[in-house]
Amino acid sequence: MSSSIAVLASGRGSNLQSLLDYLAMHSSNGTVTLVASDRPDAGALALARTRDIKTCALDMGTRHEALLAALLDHHAADIIVLAGYLRLVPSSVIQSFRGRMLNVHPALLPAFGGKGMYGSRIHRAVLASGARVSGATVHFVDEVYDRGAIIAQWPVPVYGDDTETTLAARVLRAEHALLPRVVDRVAGGRIALGADNRVRGVMDTPAPEDAFALADGTGLGAAIDAALALAGS
Ligand code: GRF
Repeated sequence: MSSSIAVLASGRGSNLQSLLDYLAMHSSNGTVTLVASDRPDAGALALARTRDIKTCALDMGTRHEALLAALLDHHAADIIVLAGYLRLVPSSVIQSFRGRMLNVHPALLPAFGGKGMYGSRIHRAVLASGARVSGATVHFVDEVYDRGAIIAQWPVPVYGDDTETTLAARVLRAEHALLPRVVDRVAGGRIALGADNRVRGVMDTPAPEDAFALADGTGLGAAIDAALALAGS
């Protein structure tokens, strides 16, 4: 049975696009059936319309909580993917989707996460810190920004001459390869959140030299597939 996936996104929607493309090509575990945004002009909504996926621009007034809950209920979402969604999801929704809501974050959590850490601010903070490694993280969502159990991470190098733009682009390539593969495996039941808040099927992170060799080139998807295939239980 194919899981029904709702995507919440505030921005241009490149992660949504990579998810749609991956599911169409490689997976029968899940289908994106709804894309909702807090921004009526979000690129993600425009993209969803071109793919004939139902869309919803959320009213961010006092009804956010009830509206979001009703929307997800109405569309019978099995899984929610936060793909660049900038709002804190109401806790009632988080509770009812425990272990079924994922977020992608453009840094290696638990570093460079939390309230106010989004978009270029993250990459600016990474560069300012002098960190030599950044990357993408996919995690289950809990009530606190960027805190939920980590499922998978993929590291990328930070170079001395990086700018926010070059670093963001390198991390985004990792996000695009990582997020769809993790969503597919959650949808297929191969990755799950246990009652003890530990992740079953968590991915082994590759050796940095292997990951770094792929950071600017092709082969990333195949390498992530291999790391996920090795995942222990
Ligand atoms: C991505 O970097 C994502 O990790 C972050 O916001 C950005 C969204 O980009 N949370 P897009 O809208 O998917 O292109």
